[in-house]
Amino acid sequence: MVHYKELGLVNTKELFHKAMQGRYAIPAFNFNNLEQLQAIIAACVETKSPVILQVSKGARQYANQTLLQYMAQGAVEVAKQSGHAIPIVLHLDHGDSFELAKSCIETGFSSVMIDGSHLPYEENVKLTKQVVDFAHRHDVTVEGELGVLAGIEDEVSSEHAHYTRPEEVEDFVKRTGVDSLAISIGTSHGAFKFKVKPGETPPPLRFDILEEIERRIPGFPIVLHGASSIPQHIVDDINKYGGRLEDTAGVSEEQLRRAAKSAVCKINIDSDGRLAVTAAIRKVFYEKPDEFDPRKYLGPARDSLKELYKHKVVHVLGSNDKA
Ligand code: G3H
Ligand code: 13P
Ligand code: ZN
Repeated sequence: MVHYKELGLVNTKELFHKAMQGRYAIPAFNFNNLEQLQAIIAACVETKSPVILQVSKGARQYANQTLLQYMAQGAVEVAKQSGHAIPIVLHLDHGDSFELAKSCIETGFSSVMIDGSHLPYEENVKLTKQVVDFAHRHDVTVEGELGVLAGIEDEVSSEHAHYTRPEEVEDFVKRTGVDSLAISIGTSHGAFKFKVKPGETPPPLRFDILEEIERRIPGFPIVLHGASSIPQHIVDDINKYGGRLEDTAGVSEEQLRRAAKSAVCKINIDSDGRLAVTAAIRKVFYEKPDEFDPRKYLGPARDSLKELYKHKVVHVLGSNDKA
């Protein structure tokens, strides 16, 4: 067993408490490789923001669990050496079983999500509580989920998502003991969130549901998944340099800023980073077809990702200067 404190990581408890008081949200950025991690750490150190490094089950399989553990430890050291240490959380994104959550806790994760949102309510309660009981013995924080976001691959519009039922949240939080709750209020995963015609704007988030949830569980940390904004200029760049992405739209930054000022303490962003990396690499390949040193295209991708994350921290989440 490697406990997260040995790696210099922190859990989400104090970060969420401060975010709630200060009316901002902590960025939760996914990573699978070195360049993504470098970009996240550089952006958050420069903006003095706490950060949640998110690892999905797929990322864990892709990058190798042992390597990830030491990469996270390395990130803590790099932040320290920069002269401004920031609080860093290593978090399991969308954990789907007790065994996976347990394995992460035993290998240095300081926070885990157990996503039982697709299960019948009572089964979700049971699975989530099982994870919480184990996690809390190790001082690891747990994120649960109620309500279903539209799928990652499906081009499902938000109307087909199953919103969180506010009447369930109090019972769920009390019976499971979770530390934070992911909810469904109209966001969805992936790059194809909303199909909009030119000139149209995507449907607004259901702030009425969020407010009702805040009324029922005051001061409880809420998490927003599927919060990429799918910047049009990045999609345009991808297509300009040989890509072929369909018209798409994400969650507006204005709506995310409003959410960050509410009980939403954690905002998950992955797809925007994927798009930024793709655009930067395509640009190099298009402009310099004779280039074959990976540093010459992964480097620009990393720089572009860092700028994107800095923008998110300062202009969307408001977590700058909070570390
Ligand atoms: O919500 C899912 C995250 O974007 C992670 O995606 O499972 O493809 O790593 P992934
Ligand atoms: P996006 O696909 O909108 O970036 O959402 C990521 C996410 O929710 C990770 O859990
Ligand atoms: Zn998610």
